[in-house]
Amino acid sequence: MSTEFHTPVMAQEVLEGLLTDGDGTYVDATVGGGGHAAAILSRLSITGRLIGLDRDPAAIRMATEKLLPYGNRVVLKEGVFWRLGEILDAIEVHRIDGILFELNFGAAIPAEMMMRSLQLLCDKVMPHFK
Ligand SMILES: C[S@@+](CC[C@H](N)C(=O)[O-])C[C@H]1O[C@@H](n2cnc3c(N)ncnc32)[C@H](O)[C@@H]1O
Repeated sequence: MSTEFHTPVMAQEVLEGLLTDGDGTYVDATVGGGGHAAAILSRLSITGRLIGLDRDPAAIRMATEKLLPYGNRVVLKEGVFWRLGEILDAIEVHRIDGILFELNFGAAIPAEMMMRSLQLLCDKVMPHFK
């Protein structure tokens, strides 16, 4: 059985577009099995941190195992990303450098509704950006 939850897509492009500060704090708001998160952490310095969020407890378990080598530089939380602002406040993370969402757009979710949800989310999370 594969130990990979999901093969990270466009990992190189994600790293190039997302990472601006090797000592920074980044959020993977759809952490899944931790593939992108591991790639992000491998590029950060020992003071760089990653907050991983997923609504699926099985994903959180798998990411916990995968990201074990990064110790306390990783915080994983079960939850939905539209509550990200509250989750960051609860763990006292007040400044972040970037957020990764791996989202699938489909016929079941009208694009307009998705864009409105993301706008609401951005409004809540923006105060956490440096
Ligand atoms: C394609 S996977 C992400 C894979 C991940 N980037 C990796 O490298 O392993 C998408 C993940 O998003 C999670 N997800 C979907 N909707 C979510 C939501 N509203 N809040 C948090 N996580 C969500 C799913 O449970 C799933 O684990």
